[in-house]
Amino acid sequence: MSKKIIIVGASSGIGEAMALQYAAIGHKVGITGRRTALLQNIKMQFPSLIEYECFDVTGDENIQKLEMLISKLGGLDLIVISAGWGRPSETLNWDIDKKITTTNVNGFIEIANWSFNYFVKQGHGKIAAISSVAANRGSSYSPAYAASKAFESIYCEGLSIKARKLKKEIYITCIEPGFVNTDMAHGGDKMFWIAPVEKASRQIIKAIEKKKRKVYITKRWWLIAKLMRLLPYWIYRKLG
Ligand SMILES: NC(=O)c1ccc[n+]([C@@H]2O[C@H](COP(=O)([O-])OP(=O)(O)OC[C@H]3O[C@@H](n4cnc5c(N)ncnc54)[C@H](OP(=O)(O)O)[C@@H]3O)[C@@H](O)[C@H]2O)c1
Repeated sequence: MSKKIIIVGASSGIGEAMALQYAAIGHKVGITGRRTALLQNIKMQFPSLIEYECFDVTGDENIQKLEMLISKLGGLDLIVISAGWGRPSETLNWDIDKKITTTNVNGFIEIANWSFNYFVKQGHGKIAAISSVAANRGSSYSPAYAASKAFESIYCEGLSIKARKLKKEIYITCIEPGFVNTDMAHGGDKMFWIAPVEKASRQIIKAIEKKKRKVYITKRWWLIAKLMRLLPYWIYRKLG
């Protein structure tokens, strides 16, 4: 059956690949981002199935724009929050850290909070968040990015427990990718276990379909996440 799906942060990368894969199997998809021309190009590939709204998640239009997109789609079954930003911040640059937190924490929570309450009223729905394997431990290269992703993953866990307690048909999928070959993964060729974006997207879609609570993308990154958590601080500090 055709579903109504919003992907926040779908003008490029993982969000774009997911939007095209969902539309290719007949779902109605609402995509968002700040770069209008990219959103228009994506819509042109499936004009009757893809709608878009252009907005910055760090601004004050998130809810208004999501509501507009829902009326264009005629409802909402699943929202994917893929919008995110990160850069190395080795000198602990405040401009970088601020942009990371306003996007990955403030923007994220406003959308996730609103979506959860929307689905509570509706009685069913799915939320998927693209966090990161970086959520598992502190990072000296980008302390704010790792912390912002830990925020996303922990918030998702809280929502999963809340949905269960409420006995609602609401499912939360927290996705922790390793490296995926997108604009965000600068110099991707030198990164290990870097996944093509279409492959990562396929695995994410399958995990959401199966109502998985937590997944690593690609699957082998489960091992890295476990190792990151198991390593004692005195060893981890040499890597992190
Ligand atoms: N690539 C990786 O290796 C990797 C690994 C782990 C986790 N992730 C996570 O995966 C998610 C998607 O990233 P990606 O790899 O697909 O990179 P990407 O191609 O840079 O995509 C990021 C998306 O987020 C949107 N976005 C960023 N800041 C925004 C803002 N302030 N307002 C609205 N939209 C915004 C971008 O749209 P506009 O620029 O048009 O606004 C774009 O559509 C991110 O949350 C990232 O942290 C990526």
